[in-house]
Amino acid sequence: MTKSIGIGLVGCGVVGTGLLQVLQENATAIEGRLGVPLEVRRIAVRDPAAVRSPLVPQDKLTADPMELVRDPDIQVIVEVMGGVERAYEVVHAAILAGKHVVTANKALLAERGAEIWNLAEQHGVDVYYEAAVAGGIPVIRVLREALASERVLAIRGIVNGTSNYILSRMSAESMSFADALAEAQAAGYAEADPTLDVGGGDACHKIAILATLAFGQRVPADQIPTEGIDRVATIDIAFAQRLGFVIKPLAVARVVGDSLDLRVHPALVPVEATLATVHGALNAVAIEGALLGPILMSGPGAGAGPTATSVAGDLLDVARNIECCAHARVPSRGFRQVALRDAKLRDIGEHRGRFYLRLTVADRPGVLGAITSALGDNDVSIEQMFQDGGGQRSKRDETGPVSVVLLTHRATERNVRAALASIETHDAVVAPSQLIRIEE
Ligand code: NDP
Ligand code: HSE
Repeated sequence: MTKSIGIGLVGCGVVGTGLLQVLQENATAIEGRLGVPLEVRRIAVRDPAAVRSPLVPQDKLTADPMELVRDPDIQVIVEVMGGVERAYEVVHAAILAGKHVVTANKALLAERGAEIWNLAEQHGVDVYYEAAVAGGIPVIRVLREALASERVLAIRGIVNGTSNYILSRMSAESMSFADALAEAQAAGYAEADPTLDVGGGDACHKIAILATLAFGQRVPADQIPTEGIDRVATIDIAFAQRLGFVIKPLAVARVVGDSLDLRVHPALVPVEATLATVHGALNAVAIEGALLGPILMSGPGAGAGPTATSVAGDLLDVARNIECCAHARVPSRGFRQVALRDAKLRDIGEHRGRFYLRLTVADRPGVLGAITSALGDNDVSIEQMFQDGGGQRSKRDETGPVSVVLLTHRATERNVRAALASIETHDAVVAPSQLIRIEE
């Protein structure tokens, strides 16, 4: 009988079913590269009786992931069920049972990664996670292996496909937020809880993972300033276009002195910038190295095929390690545990850059003067400013409300927020103001 490597698949939704397709369609190439076949022996799902793709072997289904963990013929557990608590229990039990783990679960790694990696190190097993960041783009391997000798200075990118898809559809097709989100869900891009996508939490988990790999620092995801695209209004997309910008969901990790500038937020990007051309569910990750200079990787950031390709690549790596008895050759986080430091995160108030501001005010004398004075008092200088009534007002309704849109020169975020707070005390302000950072 041909020796094979036994896989236990925990979760068989978008990514799990995609993995079965990759393993089936590319079986010859995989065996040729590996020397032995990979065999999925059991599959755990929530509801084994549910109707599934013909790719899913019904006789291998169970509702209990621990059956896979206990199975002596399974050497690698692939966790693609999502969520944190139950996924942690399964991965924890798998490592204790001496099984290697491949996961696509960025929430799990950002929240419980330290425990998982320490346990894996103690038990001499591999935990691979290429699919957890940027879907089909092999950014984990690049940071962990190709750039192992380099000092990474900055990472900037679009790492949430759902958010980029929604903003792209809203901007190119004038589609509503809700319709664009429904399309992203139907295409299999969104998380089971899509507020993780549109609220920025998913990108926050991903940038925390990348920052640890890049800078060798433990990064508490819950301390990263995070804003989602759910705060971007259709009107902001239109004003940004008028000013020569595109709004993109950005994640940034940068070394600034002895601290890290980590943030996740929508940003105005100049229309001619490379990131502005990354549309739909595509992701892009730009890495700047001290001696390397800048590199850019882009590709599909979500969806069955790209994500499953990354999971399958990890499986091959783990299987090669099994064949060569070379586990943990490359540390999971790129750095040995002893070399990791605790990150000092920069306060977002220290952020310095240009800002897009939109104020909704009654159109009456003195209002613009009050706005410009408040900005001036806080050392914020105006680069452009216009007033727009949206063409909606009748002659009888001449006092408002209107949008006042401003681009500032470079300023400190603390000062811009102080100016906004002062402006909002004015009785002409009729709705909360909008602030979106401009990323050059
Ligand atoms: P799905 O919701 O499509 O699939 C989840 C699967 O897990 C389902 O088969 C479900 O069973 C099973 N499952 C859920 N809870 C349990 C449980 N308690 N016990 C057993 N099985 C369970 O998710 P995705 O495939 O989209 O995502 C899976 C993981 O991959 C997530 O961590 C996600 O963040 C990550 N990921 C997803 C990407 C994507 O593009 N979709 C891209 C990159 C990463 P049942 O089928 O019966 O409901
Ligand atoms: N929901 C995630 C996204 C999946 O849209 O980017 C890929 O991690």
